[in-house]
Amino acid sequence: MKETIDRLRSDGGERIAAADTPAGIEALRVALLGRKGEVTLLLRGLKDVPADERPAMGAALNRLKVELGELLDARQQELAGGASGEAVEMDLTLPGTPPCPVGTNHPLVSVLESICDIFYGMGFSRGEGPEVELDYYNFTALNFPDDHPARDIQDTFYINDKVCLRTQTSPVQVRYMERREPPLACVFPGRVYRNETADASHSAEFYQIEGLVVDTDISMADLKNTVDTFVRNFFGAAEPTRFRPHYFPFTEPSVEVDMQCVVCRGKGCGVCGQTGWLEIMGAGMVHPNVLKGAGYPEDKYTGFAFGMGIDRIAMLKYGIDDIRLLYENDLRFLNQFRGVL
Ligand code: DAH
Repeated sequence: MKETIDRLRSDGGERIAAADTPAGIEALRVALLGRKGEVTLLLRGLKDVPADERPAMGAALNRLKVELGELLDARQQELAGGASGEAVEMDLTLPGTPPCPVGTNHPLVSVLESICDIFYGMGFSRGEGPEVELDYYNFTALNFPDDHPARDIQDTFYINDKVCLRTQTSPVQVRYMERREPPLACVFPGRVYRNETADASHSAEFYQIEGLVVDTDISMADLKNTVDTFVRNFFGAAEPTRFRPHYFPFTEPSVEVDMQCVVCRGKGCGVCGQTGWLEIMGAGMVHPNVLKGAGYPEDKYTGFAFGMGIDRIAMLKYGIDDIRLLYENDLRFLNQFRGVL
């Protein structure tokens, strides 16, 4: 009887696998497990098996019955699936359907990164500082007199007496110098805040990128060359630049840097207010008081610094005429930058 059970297990399995219609499976179920099925007949025959072998044979037969039943059920399900839908073919290496369109960099981020890339090419590294800043770093350490109008509550968002939202990226210069010895060359991009009423050219939040170079022998000529290299690389043409004398508390001498208008090539147009020039940054030689405040020995080092508005550069590059568009996250605006950056 044992051999019969083994044979039925192997060829029953084969016959089930070979069945290719649901009706075929049902016929097999009857032939194997039905009232007169092969397994059923064997079970009936148990009474003729010697008494000492009967329990083992009975258990083996019951196992066979369960196994064949499971095989029949599984094959039946397989065939039912194939009958209702077409044969299911699955390629698990195909990418799934994305739940929403893939995003893209914000134009400000793209411009920020490409500006940084140009400075990396000139040997600058990159640093950052906090947006919630101590009044000390935002003003005092940058040589702002106590009564300087920029400290006015009108311009600065104060959190309390000593803490404000930074109004410029210049404080990062001081934090950076405090922890390092020259020579150093670094850019610090980031978001800044001013208490401004928003209009087409003003926003209460915007982006700046600060640059700082300090060493034993840095001059205004190094600043000029750095600015020209940046303009040539970013705007793709050697637009002339010019320095206009200006005042910043943390630089001496201080300048504002203009580049020839990229739109009219210096002839005068609406974008440059008919002047032929576009202001792109404030800059100058780092004030001795700032170097001293950073803990450097007097008269040992000189340096230059600059601060540039990233929004304005992005607006110039892409012909955007309202800064608010950069902060509203309107997809009709942002989608125009897909794949073009
Ligand atoms: N922090 C200045 C501003 O927000 C810009 C600036 C001017 C930065 C001159 C500098 C600099 O590093 O040297 O208007």
